[in-house]
Amino acid sequence: MTLRSVVCGTGSYLPQKCLTNYELPAHLETSHEWIMERTGIAARHIAAPNETTSALAVKAALKALEAAGMDPQDIDLIILGTCTPDNTFPSTATLIQSRLGIHKGFAFDVNAACSGFVFALATADNYLKNGMATKALVIGAETMTRIVDWKDRTTAVLFGDGAGAVVLEAQKDTDRGIIGSLLRTDGQGYDQLYVTGGPSTTQTAGTIYMNGRDVFKNAVHCLEEAVEDILKLYHTDQSEIDWLVPHQANKRIIDATAKKLNLSDEKVVHTGSLHANTSAASIPLALDTAVRDGRIKPGQLILCEAFAGGYAWGSNLIRM
Ligand code: ACO
Repeated sequence: MTLRSVVCGTGSYLPQKCLTNYELPAHLETSHEWIMERTGIAARHIAAPNETTSALAVKAALKALEAAGMDPQDIDLIILGTCTPDNTFPSTATLIQSRLGIHKGFAFDVNAACSGFVFALATADNYLKNGMATKALVIGAETMTRIVDWKDRTTAVLFGDGAGAVVLEAQKDTDRGIIGSLLRTDGQGYDQLYVTGGPSTTQTAGTIYMNGRDVFKNAVHCLEEAVEDILKLYHTDQSEIDWLVPHQANKRIIDATAKKLNLSDEKVVHTGSLHANTSAASIPLALDTAVRDGRIKPGQLILCEAFAGGYAWGSNLIRM
């Protein structure tokens, strides 16, 4: 008997406030043209002052549960990918569990920065396949605009807030579901992309620092490896891929990966233009967008990939 983690529903949520490039604070001395040319980003959503990561996550989770035709009580595992938790501890996932009224199973956070959803999905898949859980909520949720340095134009223009979620169910003898995942880290990149604060170092939340050029170079190289290796590992030809659902950091990085896969732009889900880089939320946000607008259909093969601070990168191959 083979168990597969099948995607039964997707959901997402974006805060109401949308800030276009034209509305960015004047002191950043930036322009729509510069941001569009370098990143493809036109706008980002900003969480309201009282809107926390858990609040965004619960809204996305409820939509995913509704799409799956399930009740919160069906869920016995919650994994949240985030690098902007409500508090240092307990895990934000336990708060989500409580807000959903769930008192069984287990819940925890995964921090792999922008690769958080890819890592969370791979982790949930293993728990479902080994029988430790039966139905999981995997969520990516972030309030990145709380940790950007609003005086630093090299990072402030890049990030946004949001949440996305999927419901996974362990099912027997099916071709659908997560075929496999590939996870990699190399801590040598630790100080190229990080948050300057932390409880153990400065006792402050800190702000994002990024060496953009080093990140760009490594992202293109590592993502090529992530997509090529996962296809080899699971004996899949690139021509079989119906959709690339990438982390939405930068359109130029996505284009380079699509080129490597010989995929035309029509087979790539782009949401970065309107969402900016929502870190761990970007892949489930993109996935839900393309499922709801009818592009991604049941039975299709999708490839997700992400690169992040750490450096941490990876990919998931999923039959929807
Ligand atoms: N508006 C206008 N000018 C700017 C801005 C801005 N927002 N930001 C930087 N500039 C200026 C710089 O000051 C510099 O000016 P100078 O030549 O007078 O010194 C010039 O533009 C070029 O700056 P670079 O940093 O060299 O610009 P680059 O072409 O590398 O683009 C960018 C910067 C878009 C950040 C790019 O390096 C990049 O995309 N990097 C990867 C980012 C990424 O993918 N992150 C994902 C992971 S995020 C995570 O894990 C949390």
